[in-house]
Amino acid sequence: MTSKASTFVFVQLPGSVSSVVAARYELEPTAAGPLGRLVYGRSYLERLESLPLDPVHLPLSEVEFTTTKIGGMFGALRDAAPDAWGRMILERGRPGRNWTELDYLLEASDQRVGALRFGPRPDGPTPRDRVYTMEDLERLSEAAETLQAEAAGEATPLRADVADLLDPSSGLGGARPKASVVDERGQLWVAKLPARGDRRVNAVTEGAYLGLAARCGIRVSRSRVLNVAGRPTILVERFDQAPAREAETRRFYLSAHTLLGLDESVLDRREWSYLELAHLLRRISDEPELDVIELFRRMVFNALVTNLDDHPRNHAVIGTATGGWRLSPAFDLVASSAASADNRELAMICGAVPGRERWGSRANLVSGCRHFGLTSDEAASIIDEVKAVVTASWQAEVRAQGGTDQDCKNIAYAIAYEGFELEP
Ligand SMILES: Nc1ncnc2c1ncn2[C@@H]1O[C@H](COP(=O)(O)OP(=O)(O)OP(=O)(O)O)[C@@H](O)[C@H]1O
Ligand SMILES: [Mg+2]
Repeated sequence: MTSKASTFVFVQLPGSVSSVVAARYELEPTAAGPLGRLVYGRSYLERLESLPLDPVHLPLSEVEFTTTKIGGMFGALRDAAPDAWGRMILERGRPGRNWTELDYLLEASDQRVGALRFGPRPDGPTPRDRVYTMEDLERLSEAAETLQAEAAGEATPLRADVADLLDPSSGLGGARPKASVVDERGQLWVAKLPARGDRRVNAVTEGAYLGLAARCGIRVSRSRVLNVAGRPTILVERFDQAPAREAETRRFYLSAHTLLGLDESVLDRREWSYLELAHLLRRISDEPELDVIELFRRMVFNALVTNLDDHPRNHAVIGTATGGWRLSPAFDLVASSAASADNRELAMICGAVPGRERWGSRANLVSGCRHFGLTSDEAASIIDEVKAVVTASWQAEVRAQGGTDQDCKNIAYAIAYEGFELEP
């Protein structure tokens, strides 16, 4: 980056199908690294129904906000940009370019998550580009497969029409291949396309875990596992967008990464914490008691199904129709590989056992219960309940997604692992 670059930030407020300009964001290269600046527009501040882009770090105010975290990108904006998969596609299309955080944000497709949109002029965001339908799934899957082969250095006769299909990227986050597709009602779904190295039929496991989570009292989006080009592929209904008569409504979205005010360095991992997230939910949620208890339930569930990839971009809050916030439906529930039968660690701090704060075990989970407003007895009874449902129903959920006995065998190691009941 050699010079300043900027964008207007547009939002779709609850109940509206059109965007209004909310702020101007500028990214400036400085000797100390990229510096991001954000100023809310006067007209936005004067509007009664306006909402902050981030209630914790960007409250509605006339001040200029600055940040040097995440390459100068505010978390609320960064959440609207693609991650590894989407970035790989963008970079592939423009080799040799020196990408800034703002470039990724602006060049990604507008099927991005949440209610924010972007554009160079104040009169409106850059219009949304092509939207894929269910009929395109097969070609999208083939394109993703081809791109992964190419990225792995295999000699692939890359057909231009196939490669172009995913470019620009869906704008959604995450490392795995994916695309956004719209159904006949105008509702968007995330299609998580098969990834190379999927060892345990991920689509089936993910579908089974979503079903199992729902049985455990965890809110999830609707999902279906389809056979696309001979391979199971999971589609999950987008919880941030819904069809409306003229267009669609979009809901605000903030990851836990943003709420926790995190940067992207390895050192920041020390601050990845369910306990801190519970405190933030208490501050901003419309239903703080329900949301913190559900967060506890999700943490317990993740430990009991070995979902150890529960990092802070796999948790989010979502804007409500009345301008508030709720914990979003759970997503990205998968069985991680695990080396040990008695020591499995969640990605985030989930308890207070000294030196073992990430340990996914009953003892550690109960030890942090007061952060969720629970007594030890209440925490223990939630754990008993989730464990009973998980152990009784996981195989039925795998089969409900078309999984076989072998699929069950493949993930048996992940369910209610031995060390869960060990004492520290
Ligand atoms: N049902 C949904 N509705 C709206 N947004 C979603 C939904 N599911 C996922 N997302 C968004 O898309 C992003 C990527 O999805 P997901 O986490 O499932 O993908 P992934 O590639 O498996 O991620 P990871 O890199 O964590 O493995 C999420 O971080 C979230 O912002
Ligand atoms: Mg994810």
